[in-house]
Amino acid sequence: MHRESVEEFRKKRDEALTFLQKETDERPDYLVILGTGLGDLADEIDVEDSISYSDIPHFPVSTVESHAGRLLFGTLSGKNVVAMQGRFHYYEGYSMQEIAFPIRVIKELSANTLIVSNACGGMNPNFGRGEIMLINDHINMLGDNPLIGPNDDELGPRFPDMSDPYTERLRDIAEQVALDKGIKMHEGVYLALSGPTLETKAEYRFLRNIGADVVGMSTVPEVIAAVHMSMEVLGISVITDECFPDALEPVNIEEVLEAAGIAEPQMTQVITGVLKRL
Ligand code: HPA
Repeated sequence: MHRESVEEFRKKRDEALTFLQKETDERPDYLVILGTGLGDLADEIDVEDSISYSDIPHFPVSTVESHAGRLLFGTLSGKNVVAMQGRFHYYEGYSMQEIAFPIRVIKELSANTLIVSNACGGMNPNFGRGEIMLINDHINMLGDNPLIGPNDDELGPRFPDMSDPYTERLRDIAEQVALDKGIKMHEGVYLALSGPTLETKAEYRFLRNIGADVVGMSTVPEVIAAVHMSMEVLGISVITDECFPDALEPVNIEEVLEAAGIAEPQMTQVITGVLKRL
């Protein structure tokens, strides 16, 4: 497999960066990634500039219908943010490096904090459909890693520490926000698999047993790239279906999107509440 050299990567990143610097005067501190069915948070942003992924040099283009595929620059809770409305998944055929690319570019532009959301299946029996979970750790079972290949030492270390990928400071603030607003928010471990198949009963049983609370097909590549670059990370999962191996019901994407819609206002409140306190 071809692994891009540090020079190739920097050239692409800088071309994307130069384009964004020309297109917008915004220099956001916060990058927000909106997961499947969770694009409504974008409506809360006072948008200054909107840039389609397809216009940005070397940016991957989203193939999932429920993802809009653009960067929204503006203000949310009084903070400068850029939202990725639409994200890239490994199952779409992108490499881990491609999935990480937007994070690399936006970090270079200005952002030092990543706020990431996703739709996931809940395996912890205490978690219900339409509820939210603060991610306190993850298990990478994608079978790949965006940092494989030559390391750009200017971005981060060869062997990044992963002892606190979801920054404790931000988790503490999120917990306080949820408490103050009376929002029920679980806390737990997100496990990423490649998909696109959902899991078998035997797989859910296994994944639960190895310490995961929820399972999904995203987030981990972006978080690894962010941690590599010493960004602070806040992650929130929306439980869109219950994955209890002994009572498993078939899921369909409509039900996933419906549950995402139910949980979305709570997730939005936590994220805007955290931003307000930062
Ligand atoms: N697995 C199971 N259920 C899900 C997932 C997943 O990856 N994503 C959303 N619901």
